[in-house]
Amino acid sequence: MLVLGIESSCDETAISIVKNGKYILSNVLYSQIALHKPFGGVYPEIASRSHLEVILDMISKALEEASVGLDAIDLIAVSSSPGLMGSLLVGVNTAKTLAYSLNIPFVGINHIEAHLYAAIMSANRPIFPALGLVISGGHTSLFKIEGNECFTPIGSTIDDAVGEAFDKVARLLGLPYPGGPEIEKLAQKGDPKKEIFKIPKVKNRPFSFSFSGLKTQVLYRVKGQNCKEEKELSFEEKANIAAGFQETALQYLVDESLKALDHFSYDSLYIGGGVSHNQRLRRLFQEKAKDGINLFWPGPGLSLDNAAMVAGLGFHVFQKGQKSDNFNLIPTPTNKCLSFSL
Ligand code: KG4
Ligand code: ZN
Repeated sequence: MLVLGIESSCDETAISIVKNGKYILSNVLYSQIALHKPFGGVYPEIASRSHLEVILDMISKALEEASVGLDAIDLIAVSSSPGLMGSLLVGVNTAKTLAYSLNIPFVGINHIEAHLYAAIMSANRPIFPALGLVISGGHTSLFKIEGNECFTPIGSTIDDAVGEAFDKVARLLGLPYPGGPEIEKLAQKGDPKKEIFKIPKVKNRPFSFSFSGLKTQVLYRVKGQNCKEEKELSFEEKANIAAGFQETALQYLVDESLKALDHFSYDSLYIGGGVSHNQRLRRLFQEKAKDGINLFWPGPGLSLDNAAMVAGLGFHVFQKGQKSDNFNLIPTPTNKCLSFSL
């Protein structure tokens, strides 16, 4: 079964063609980073307009790279929640139009679950049951995973997402958007032991995360307790703060995930979302995980937003339900399934 995946939930217009939920024939992407950089974050109106301008060209490019025509596509899968409403609408309406004109089914996919599926589709032999950790710009959540398309949320951040914390700390240090990769680069030049931050804690809410307190610790370190200090930090001071912040945030993610695995007596963890691209995180997990723990990471090109994960998960969602979504499908900007923790 050939699935055409569409991802337009935020600032990437991505199209992919995937065979049987696993074999990626093409995975193309137009990144809007340059458009949003002057604003220090994603500007929603610019994002949706840009999706509209490039989405048809990206579909042509994905078909060309996969050497298939539209007539070979059996199913359309599209990110329909969560994300920016205007951005989601472009992808969902494109999916509906293609499905209608080609007379094929389409399915709306949860973008966060797709991030976990990115690690599942990259595994030689996936293992279930397992836990999943999604670490992106908008979400930091733990899931139970009982099959390819069977995700149950067990906890989430009660405030900022970890990627959001990286982006905000980067801004405080004068680094450009998106901040995650910039912090990782700067941290390599710093010493985390020179700037120690307290590891966050969420009382009475197991499997939850919190990053706003850590972000505030960095704010005080940079601007003083009254947030009014105007002192210019040296490059070395900035690098040490980046390293200290990164180390604290990543240790926290690793420790909480391993505790959760222990709690459920599972030995497998899938990790997905933009922050999973961080190489220090990968090393920390490998160092801290006991022998026998299986860590599954997204393959190349599958950590950050992409459409292969959407097409791949779409295959399983359709196999399970055996029916197309309704043309009344409306994208949902918030993540309904995680609303308990918002
Ligand atoms: O999954 P993603 O592409 O989009 C969302 O669904 O949010 O994640 C984007 C987030 C941004 O916050 C970005 O700063 C962060 O992932 N990120 C990183 C790294 N690369 C991207 N954070 C830490 N280290 C990285 N290397
Ligand atoms: Zn994402």
